[in-house]
Amino acid sequence: MKSTNHILDIALEISDQAAELVRLSSQKIKSFKSKGEVSNLVTQTDIEVDKLIAGKIKESFPEHNVVSEELGSKNLSSEYTWYIDPIDGTNNFVHNYPSFAVSIGVYLRSKPIVGVVYDIPNNEKFFALKDGGSFSNDSKISVSNKDRFSEGLFVTGFIPYDENYIDKNLQVIKNINLNSHGVRRLGAASLDMCHVAKGIVEGFWEYNLQPWDTAAGNIIVTEAGGTVSNENGNQYNFDKCIVVSNNKVHKDFLKIINES
Ligand code: IPD
Ligand code: CA
Ligand code: CA
Repeated sequence: MKSTNHILDIALEISDQAAELVRLSSQKIKSFKSKGEVSNLVTQTDIEVDKLIAGKIKESFPEHNVVSEELGSKNLSSEYTWYIDPIDGTNNFVHNYPSFAVSIGVYLRSKPIVGVVYDIPNNEKFFALKDGGSFSNDSKISVSNKDRFSEGLFVTGFIPYDENYIDKNLQVIKNINLNSHGVRRLGAASLDMCHVAKGIVEGFWEYNLQPWDTAAGNIIVTEAGGTVSNENGNQYNFDKCIVVSNNKVHKDFLKIINES
């Protein structure tokens, strides 16, 4: 059995290569296709980066399962599963809005053990290892100490075409705006989670994310001392709603979401 440290080393190496490919492609004209809805985009770069990452995982861990956004699932009945978002924030990437990342999370059975989120425009690499802490480049990071919800800054995301959740989320946004320092929306869920881990926002929530959006961020937040739950406060297990915080404001955060 490969050690978790070795898995992290390989994940970091792969994220460097993936980030380099995204960077090179950033300088070219980005043609995109819609995956059905007008704002659900995919570029050739998403697919190329996904293939690069899947190929590299296969070289090092041919027996591991891989679940990726653009290539689907390869289930080899391994205890290890890699969740890949080749570009989290594709819409931002297309518009040159500086908030997009490569996100790689590894689970052993149903628990995250390694996470890497590479913020490409800002050249900031977040990573975490089970029981090993969370880092941004070479510095250890931790969630903020703020315990007053009213003094917190929050971030969310939403799928503009998802009618099941849009109204509910607008109501939550309104109530959080009225009861805190405010709400931001940057458009890359993996980075939103890393910003909680780094202590620059107190919380993040979103409806209807996919495993590749959250797998890496999950361990980066928990290793930084934060909490990742569903809307009932139970441990997050790829549920419909994710609620992430510095832990101190979590109770108030859940209350406001559930009462909205
Ligand atoms: C999206 C981003 C966005 C979130 C969406 C995701 P993509 O991922 O993480 O912040 O609001 O729900 O789908 O499509 O750019 O990989
Ligand atoms: Ca994503
Ligand atoms: Ca993506």
